[in-house]
Amino acid sequence: MKRPWDVHLLLLSLLSLFGAVTSQVNPGVCRYPLGMSGGQIQDEDISASSQWSESTAARYGRLDFEEGDGAWCPEITVEPDHLKEFLQIDLRSLHFITLVGTQGRHAGGIGNEFAQMYKIKYSRDGSRWISWRNRQGKQVIEGNTNAYDIVLRDLEPPIIARFVRFMPVTDHSMNVCMRVELYGCEWLDGLVSYNGPAGEQMTLPSYSVYVNDSVYDGAVIHSMTEGLGQLTDGECGLDDFTHSHVYNVWPGYDYVGWNNESFPSGFVEIMFEFDRTRNFTTMKVHCNNMFSRHVKAFRQVVCYFRSESDWEANPLSFSPGVDEKNPSARFVTVNLSNHMASAIKCQFYFADAWMLFSEITFQSDTAMYNTTLAPGTGPPPNIPPEEDPTHKVDDSNTRILIGCLVAIIFILVAIIVIILWRQVWQKMLEKASRRMLDDELTASLSIQSETFAYNNNNNQSGSSSEQESNSTYERIFPLGPDYQEPSRFICKLPEFAQSSEEPASTSTAASKSTTATVIQDGVPHYAEADIVNLQGVTGSNTYAIPALTMDLLSGKDVVVEEFPRKLLTFKEKLGEGQFGEVHLCEAEGMQEFMNKEFLFDIPEDQPVLVAVKMLRSDANKNARNDFLKEIKIMSRLKDPNIIRLLAVCIYSDPLCMITEYMENGDLNQFLSRHEPEGQLALLSNAPTVSFNNLCYMAAQIASGMKYLSSLNFVHRDLATRNCLVGKNYTIKIADFGMSRNLYSGDYYRIQGRAVLPIRWMSWESILLGKFTTASDVWAFGVTLWEVLNFCKEQPYSQLTDEQVIENTGEFFRDQKRQIYLPQPVLCPDSLYRIMLSCWRRNTKERPAFQDIHRALVEMQA
Ligand SMILES: *[C@@H]1O[C@H](CO)[C@@H](O)[C@H](O)[C@H]1NC(C)=O
Ligand SMILES: *[C@@H]1O[C@H](CO)[C@@H](O)[C@H](O)[C@H]1NC(C)=O
Ligand SMILES: *[C@@H]1O[C@H](CO)[C@@H](O)[C@H](O)[C@H]1NC(C)=O
Repeated sequence: MKRPWDVHLLLLSLLSLFGAVTSQVNPGVCRYPLGMSGGQIQDEDISASSQWSESTAARYGRLDFEEGDGAWCPEITVEPDHLKEFLQIDLRSLHFITLVGTQGRHAGGIGNEFAQMYKIKYSRDGSRWISWRNRQGKQVIEGNTNAYDIVLRDLEPPIIARFVRFMPVTDHSMNVCMRVELYGCEWLDGLVSYNGPAGEQMTLPSYSVYVNDSVYDGAVIHSMTEGLGQLTDGECGLDDFTHSHVYNVWPGYDYVGWNNESFPSGFVEIMFEFDRTRNFTTMKVHCNNMFSRHVKAFRQVVCYFRSESDWEANPLSFSPGVDEKNPSARFVTVNLSNHMASAIKCQFYFADAWMLFSEITFQSDTAMYNTTLAPGTGPPPNIPPEEDPTHKVDDSNTRILIGCLVAIIFILVAIIVIILWRQVWQKMLEKASRRMLDDELTASLSIQSETFAYNNNNNQSGSSSEQESNSTYERIFPLGPDYQEPSRFICKLPEFAQSSEEPASTSTAASKSTTATVIQDGVPHYAEADIVNLQGVTGSNTYAIPALTMDLLSGKDVVVEEFPRKLLTFKEKLGEGQFGEVHLCEAEGMQEFMNKEFLFDIPEDQPVLVAVKMLRSDANKNARNDFLKEIKIMSRLKDPNIIRLLAVCIYSDPLCMITEYMENGDLNQFLSRHEPEGQLALLSNAPTVSFNNLCYMAAQIASGMKYLSSLNFVHRDLATRNCLVGKNYTIKIADFGMSRNLYSGDYYRIQGRAVLPIRWMSWESILLGKFTTASDVWAFGVTLWEVLNFCKEQPYSQLTDEQVIENTGEFFRDQKRQIYLPQPVLCPDSLYRIMLSCWRRNTKERPAFQDIHRALVEMQA
């Protein structure tokens, strides 16, 4: 759907009917992007407390830009309660800022950092910094929930500032990146502060009215100094000052007021300071005039001007005349007769017991607020103005205004009808096409599962973004549900938004897990984005699989047969986890249960070695479901280099799955027992493996991984310990989980929760929680390194776990300080080059398993 520009233009031209320029700022219209995304803000005006790397410097913090590494990222992970990091924008002059937009780091799918919350600080002079608070006093703003959607937040109250800082906030230590934009317009009033007596409290018979300045950003003791507040927030008070159009505030909120009893002199003096010397034409004071409550506009005003350092001797005096007929609030315009000044001091004389002001604006030079085009920006604003320009229009305009409003309302109604109609129509179309797609899917299983997941995800994210459409968006773009297109567009990229497949309980566990990573990632996982679930059924990370592929699989009959439990003889425990165990067993009569298409040369009537993965009978429902899912997945994997599921025992507890096991055990143990061919082996009489056979085994691993990756499965724990060796150096990839005591040193426990094979993991898996085929390729490189070392040494054995994690930070920064695994003695240069290519920083530059497989096949002489 295209953006309804036509509508906005129509509205804009209507607005311009009653004047394209106004003499005071209108927050409803003052919402132009100030130049982060448009480029009007120069790189040198964007700075930050720190940067993770040159490619995530402050200048990459522009909303909707994908340059560099896609966003600004601070060097230090943002700690809770430790607000040090900020992104700072210098607007070069005072601006009235009504809206902010933030976005995370997406970087074409590589990035997944964003600020869930942030605070804003601002400054008018660059030295005094003020923390922004909303009208309820809250500082923290809700930010992003994913790396790509733009989230816009109204600033209520708006900010008048030259410098703005975005400060990411988190409730746990994590990496945060931001892209931002400010929306508003230039602050033509030039007012830097107003100083005057603090507002007071009015006691009415039944309740109190607080006419203090609740958003004043300077100091308030007995008087207000050095700040701006309700008199410059662009909100005019209502005729009845006890009401407010601001929601959920106390009576009198919009006004600042004083009682004549407190001012024996009969006047209230307010001093206004400006950014520079200006040529003043008028001052407009919005006054309440509810005389039934003893409130009247001022009777007289006397103003003094200061141009250089001296106050002019002759003040200007003006008496508007007291109005006892019309109780409505109004702007009183004071002609300042082209006085030159950088400060003005005015004494407002009481006409009744109370004097209540809600706005004071200044007009100087010839500057006027433009309501049609953003000042200094050529193209039409991205953000259309609110369709409610009722604030701050002089009484004389009211009639034209009402006419226009009626017209606008008619047009709006028509537009809404059209939009609704279009949406309904579109939904029907979508539904129809989805149904067609589903039919196609079930008809031909041979289509790459990637496509399925891809389509599925489009639909899912498309519809979920519709549901989630946040209210801010809708308020700002009352006419355009189309504005959610950024997320829709991004979801069309060939990667995957979070799957909704996982049961809610596990995903909450994931979000709670305070690992050093942002866990939400855009990869199809069986155990979607859930590091806790890595410990899975048997402490195992099951193969990752896109949600829809799962559904597809489960749609077909499971061809695995039930095996009589009594025919299994326990031999050895291979692994153990939270919910179950893996046993090595002998199975009698297994041949009968094997699929015919699946023959191995096992002599008849001899017990077969099998691995039995067993779910504890007290496992919870989620674990059981996962276990059954894993059975479904495993039953579909058919490749000579992947361990096959032979049979199951699911008629009674404990649930079991019986998979192949190979007589030579796992590749790690196998190679540890062997030596390279050569003198040394001859002397020690140890069994040897030739270089050719090493390559043969490596090629088989690559081939099995090629198969998994073609199904878009991500293994997540490829290592020699998870490969089994059969006769004649045949290899099958398995997955025994992480809890085998033998290999506990290979896993790193993060804050007592998740265990991760960090020495095999790519930098993005560790830092960003991203597991993809490309991270499997990384792990393959490490596995290959193990093979060429005959598994005599753990990868990075000289580094502690913490140093390994630090090293991944160096891979991310890529400043040539990262440590690579060294070239094994046996390893020819060509093979080491393959390893190095698996460890490339950029996931797209790593080779595919197909290429690796081909190279390894060629290498066997
Ligand atoms: C203004 O009055 C309200 C109501 O009593 C109070 O909550 C608020 O803190 C006051 N604000 C200032 C700046 O004094
Ligand atoms: C102030 O502006 C008015 C109107 O533009 C002009 O006539 C006057 O000369 C200006 N005053 C000074 C001191 O520049
Ligand atoms: C304040 O205003 C009331 C009502 O106009 C008047 O009666 C009273 O004398 C005034 N008090 C002072 C101190 O001016």
